[in-house]
Amino acid sequence: MYLNSDRQKITTARLRQMKQDGEKIAMLTSYDFTLASLVDEAGVDMFLVGDSASNVVCGNATTLPITVDEMIFLTRGVVRAAKHALVVIDMPFGSYQVSETEAVANAIRMLKESGADAVKLEGGEEILPQIRHMIQAGVPVCGHLGLTPQSVNQFGGYGLRAKEQAEADKLLHDAKLLDEAGCFAIVLEKIPANLAAEVTQAVACPVIGIGAGNATDGQVLVLHDMLGLNQGFKPKFLRHFASLAADVKNAVDAYVTAVKDSTFPSAEEQY
Ligand code: KIV
Repeated sequence: MYLNSDRQKITTARLRQMKQDGEKIAMLTSYDFTLASLVDEAGVDMFLVGDSASNVVCGNATTLPITVDEMIFLTRGVVRAAKHALVVIDMPFGSYQVSETEAVANAIRMLKESGADAVKLEGGEEILPQIRHMIQAGVPVCGHLGLTPQSVNQFGGYGLRAKEQAEADKLLHDAKLLDEAGCFAIVLEKIPANLAAEVTQAVACPVIGIGAGNATDGQVLVLHDMLGLNQGFKPKFLRHFASLAADVKNAVDAYVTAVKDSTFPSAEEQY
């Protein structure tokens, strides 16, 4: 466990202080009470109930199908587990693009019904009006630039973003706009490390990277990926901090064998 003397609930103000103090921010995704309780106890600073739940929990090929109701349902369990970490809920595809009014209404509903502390949404200048309205309405907003998986059908895949100068310039411009609009943090996904370093220097709010190098103010990973639960997925930026897929399969294999050969339950395991 990371020994942190301050076990109070993390706030957006505390995250900004961590950036100013040069203290790195550790963020992980979570989608259920049991795992989130362990993650919170182990000392993570921020939870993201990511729309990656669409892939990880629901088995969809993309993040596009997950709904506001499904995100709220999953987030409630994480919120109950979060004694320390700040909880961010992802706004799913279609819940903020249509209009400012709809975006603000969905953001408020998602905070009220899930108990999350903040929302995250993907995009820059195109969704600035929505972001401004949410912040004016009192909703803490985390931005998300670079590889934005809800736009996979526009990008045509999940490759590295902002390799070319024009896209890098737009990303830096967008990050400054999000920062000026009052976003409390920005996630940068799968962009060159030197660009992420430039963005991190250029904005006052904390920048959390995934596949964006080591110079950001913090890191985020998908919990099931870093635990090695889906061994088939191993992009360059991902480190497996455990190999739980093998542990799960071995445990289930042992259970099936014990049931089949009638060694489970034993005399001590019955009433
Ligand atoms: O949904 C998600 O898990 C995310 C992270 C990859 C940043 O947005």
